[in-house]
Amino acid sequence: MRLSRLDVLQVRNLASVQIDCHPGANVIYGSNGSGKTSLLEAIYILGRGRSFKHRDLRVVVNKLADELVVSARIEREISKTSHQLGIRRTAQGKFEARIDGKSLQSAAQLVEELPLQLIDAHSFTLLEGGPLQRRQFLDWGVFHVEHGYTNLWRRFQKALKQRNQLLRHGRMGEDTLAAWTAELLPLAEQVTDYRQRYLLELSGIVKQVASSFDGLGEVELEYYQGWAEGQALAQVFELDRKRDMALGSTNHGAHKADIRIKVDGAVAAEVLSRGQTKLLVYALKLAQAAHYRERMGQSCLFLLDDLPAELDYEHRAQVIACLNRLDCQYFMTGVDKQDFQMLVDGMAHQMFHMEHGVASAD
Ligand SMILES: Nc1ncnc2c1ncn2[C@@H]1O[C@H](COP(=O)(O)OP(=O)(O)O)[C@@H](O)[C@H]1O
Ligand SMILES: [Mg+2]
Repeated sequence: MRLSRLDVLQVRNLASVQIDCHPGANVIYGSNGSGKTSLLEAIYILGRGRSFKHRDLRVVVNKLADELVVSARIEREISKTSHQLGIRRTAQGKFEARIDGKSLQSAAQLVEELPLQLIDAHSFTLLEGGPLQRRQFLDWGVFHVEHGYTNLWRRFQKALKQRNQLLRHGRMGEDTLAAWTAELLPLAEQVTDYRQRYLLELSGIVKQVASSFDGLGEVELEYYQGWAEGQALAQVFELDRKRDMALGSTNHGAHKADIRIKVDGAVAAEVLSRGQTKLLVYALKLAQAAHYRERMGQSCLFLLDDLPAELDYEHRAQVIACLNRLDCQYFMTGVDKQDFQMLVDGMAHQMFHMEHGVASAD
């Protein structure tokens, strides 16, 4: 999946930007505040229905405008068809998404149309932040290769929320709790099965990708399912019953899952430098793209905000080589054109100079 043409209206300082995208490497360079990250943000909103910088899209709409529009021509590799995808956030706060003029019903449909990966200044939180980030990483992967997963995941979240609500409000009879536990149990087990299977497949690919990055070491991913290994979840719920009621929430289950990431046997977040952490994040996300490609026959799109930051030249080149091997389209930003010149030398690419919210091809 690739973008061949991108139209952005009123996203932050980008009043109106139209670019013809390169099917592979797109470089966006320009001084601080020129609008480079905003361009990536526009693509991200098109693919996810939300921003990676702010929860509220109101902040993203240009100060002088009352709505934003992002649209793109997307080319699908398998069907060899091209489609027009567009989103609009209106002044009334309504969010609309369309493909070929037809409305999309949910953000999940948008996500399915445009599988994209972002790596920016905050990406180290995938390793250093809480387990939610890693569950989201895992769920991104499962979602894109297993069609039934979205529905299952939603039912699971709903059952969990209802059980927690009842626990919080107390005065719940044993029978009511048992009924909600029975509802939640198979859903939590199925979510766990999907994630476990996915992580097993992904682990080998992560090892391979990481080994193509100098000095990163042997990477191992281990799944923590959210309760003690070897115990049946039904038994865990039973053992937890009094505690769950006392604390007003479900203490174990798939909603507590995590990935333990190790490098040469040590916990990655405890031993890696910031640069190495970033490199490992690249390895994890590139591995997801490789897995997605293997399973679905399509490539995903990468947004690399400020690629030169924290990565030395050799490692940037290794990341680019991997993106090229996976036949991905990518948009990478940085302040200096020079930082990219050697990197893309001899390789087909397109550069854009961003100045005061205006992008010009050069
Ligand atoms: N809602 C908005 N309307 C207009 N300009 C905005 C809005 N939000 C942010 N900006 C401005 O957009 C500019 C571009 O920011 P950004 O894309 O992060 O720049 P870069 O990544 O090139 O350093 C900044 O100068 C910022 O002040
Ligand atoms: Mg920026």
